[in-house]
Amino acid sequence: MADVVAGSLAGRVAVVTGGTRGIGRATAHLLAEAGATVVVTSRDSGRAKAVAADLSEAYGAPATGIGFDVADFDAVGTAFKAIAEQHGRIDALVANAGVLEDALIGMIKPDLIERMLATNVAGTITTVQAAARVMMRKRSGAIVVLASIVGEHGSAGQTAYAASKAAVAAVARSAAKELGPRGIRVNAVAPGLIDTDMITHLPEDLVADRVAHTALRRLGDPMDVARAIRFLISDEAAFITGQILGVDGGLVL
Ligand SMILES: NC(=O)c1ccc[n+]([C@@H]2O[C@H](COP(=O)([O-])OP(=O)(O)OC[C@H]3O[C@@H](n4cnc5c(N)ncnc54)[C@H](OP(=O)(O)O)[C@@H]3O)[C@@H](O)[C@H]2O)c1
Repeated sequence: MADVVAGSLAGRVAVVTGGTRGIGRATAHLLAEAGATVVVTSRDSGRAKAVAADLSEAYGAPATGIGFDVADFDAVGTAFKAIAEQHGRIDALVANAGVLEDALIGMIKPDLIERMLATNVAGTITTVQAAARVMMRKRSGAIVVLASIVGEHGSAGQTAYAASKAAVAAVARSAAKELGPRGIRVNAVAPGLIDTDMITHLPEDLVADRVAHTALRRLGDPMDVARAIRFLISDEAAFITGQILGVDGGLVL
């Protein structure tokens, strides 16, 4: 059987926000492996450039790194303008940058809500907007945003985060409707519990309980999610838009 992955993204420019760790870093590797020129972003340009250097060395494709905070509206606009000028085009966006802070309802403070909404919701909308402006010139592109199983099913102690991720799913559905006629597809992945830095603070018994409620009886690996993202970015998903794809091993919350 022909390899549908090798070289399938050759000539494409893909931006992965939050590409320095976890799901974003795994995705950056898979997209570079498929031949894309990957732009890795982070709040810290040094970290982004270090991952980009790893990608260039591993896959030969010329990756670059850039630092900006997705919650900073002006910085996002400036960064995407610079990316478009440097690379001439943007074919794919993985709006992956996100933060999680747990708090029981009685303990939620206004600044926690602000942080969840600023990075996860406003950051996603702003990066989708900035990438779409560039994609519209060529009337083609593919965008994947990072929702979560908790956005659909809820999670005790994660009300603010879950609300932000429900909003991200709404971004995917709405942007898909608006941008579809311009040739741009927008989908979301909704991961279950994935083994990254983001979940290291969770108590062991909670993680064990979640695994016990997962049909496949294991935590997700960042690569599990990255493969789904690569599929949604690729031409294999050419007629798929506005979808929220669960990548959760059959976790029932
Ligand atoms: N892990 C899970 O179980 C899980 C489940 C469902 C959904 N998700 C979602 O998947 C995405 C990735 O999660 P992960 O587990 O891979 O997280 P992670 O390991 O904590 O990595 C988060 C990434 O986002 C970047 N980032 C955070 N805030 C940023 C900001 N304001 N501006 C720019 N970059 C920022 C970080 O880069 P720097 O620190 O270098 O700036 C880092 O590269 C998130 O949207 C998360 O909500 C994760």
